[in-house]
Amino acid sequence: MTLSLWTHCQAATMQPHATLPYGLIADAALVVDGPVLRWVGPRHELPPDLASACSTHHDAGGALITPGLIDCHTHLVYGGDRAAEFERRLQGTSYEEIARQGGGIASTVRATRQASAEQLTASAGARLRALMADGVTTVEIKSGYGLALEPERTCLEVARALERTHPVSVLTTFLGAHALPPEFAGRSDDYIDTALTMLAVLHAQGLVDAVDVFCERIGFSPAQTARVFTAARALGLPVKLHAEQLSDSGGAQLAAGFGALSCDHLEWLSAEGAAAMAAAGTVAVLLPGAFYFLRETRVPPIDVLRQHGVAMAVSTDCNPGSSPCTSLLLMLNMACTLFRLTPEEALAGVTRHAAKALGLHDRGVLAAGMRADLAFWDVQHPAELAYAFGARPLRQVVFAGVLR
Ligand code: NIG
Ligand code: FE
Repeated sequence: MTLSLWTHCQAATMQPHATLPYGLIADAALVVDGPVLRWVGPRHELPPDLASACSTHHDAGGALITPGLIDCHTHLVYGGDRAAEFERRLQGTSYEEIARQGGGIASTVRATRQASAEQLTASAGARLRALMADGVTTVEIKSGYGLALEPERTCLEVARALERTHPVSVLTTFLGAHALPPEFAGRSDDYIDTALTMLAVLHAQGLVDAVDVFCERIGFSPAQTARVFTAARALGLPVKLHAEQLSDSGGAQLAAGFGALSCDHLEWLSAEGAAAMAAAGTVAVLLPGAFYFLRETRVPPIDVLRQHGVAMAVSTDCNPGSSPCTSLLLMLNMACTLFRLTPEEALAGVTRHAAKALGLHDRGVLAAGMRADLAFWDVQHPAELAYAFGARPLRQVVFAGVLR
């Protein structure tokens, strides 16, 4: 047994029932036992026998310690970029128009299919390291730019490989129903058949942790979404949904009916959708980067989500079309300024609630028995993490008990 003790720090435990905002402990002690936290609390309450059992004693230098951050919605693996499309959008062409003209997601599909696994690994790895520089220790990565068996497999294999080469946990999501590939033009139900075959094969290979669909006018219908979700649930896989981003299609109610982990985007979410999510315990994943970058004006109904007690997570949605962003801290700031979350809600959105959005029960708060994924920050108060946009206050990370 190797126990190590961290003192000279504050800890924002993000514990839900803590009486203090952020579950903040001013003069904290943390005992790390291999990959897990053994004890967290005020230093003066640390049991003396536990303190003396610690073989290492680290001085945290006055840092604020939070749970390692969790980015619960990314499309990290893709080829090319969409800077030219950004220019077109600024000249007045809409995101939906570009998609209907064969650009948008389809243009990234072309670039991704042309890229080698090495190229995809290099570009996604660079984006992953940027996220990690903001204290991210867990990241979800979706497929959805291959849209055929082999390129979807390659993207999921690249995502899995990134976990082996970086000190970060990766959860993969199959998003085969992201857009209609050109070879299936006019045959979207046939493509869903194909996507279900891909799902079965990729799941059998151990490449899929969850299943997502883009339910939208330029994506797939609620009926098609239900087919994918039925197949996913039959395989025992959790589901989540890109829902009500550009219009209200009732996707949130549909996803909640399948016990979805999360519904993401939600600018057009209805009160009925929010109520259904609350009843199912589905997390609302807010993506202020996509809202900002697409210059949307309709804000997700935050007050309605609060009234229903729906847990709200915050994520980068890192992708080439709607949110080419690799800073989760910037998303904290934008969740506050654009969506009016409190800094405490925003921080819960990248810790406790992001863990819930991924179905993870072993992280997201600092408490005995949780993984020892810790982010150390050069700030005096946790609100600073949401406040100073563009700042890089991360000092170091402990990942599964190991200092990085
Ligand atoms: O989360 N909405 C669908 N999917 C992505 C964007 C994909 C793209 O434009 O490449 C999103 O916003
Ligand atoms: Fe997305």
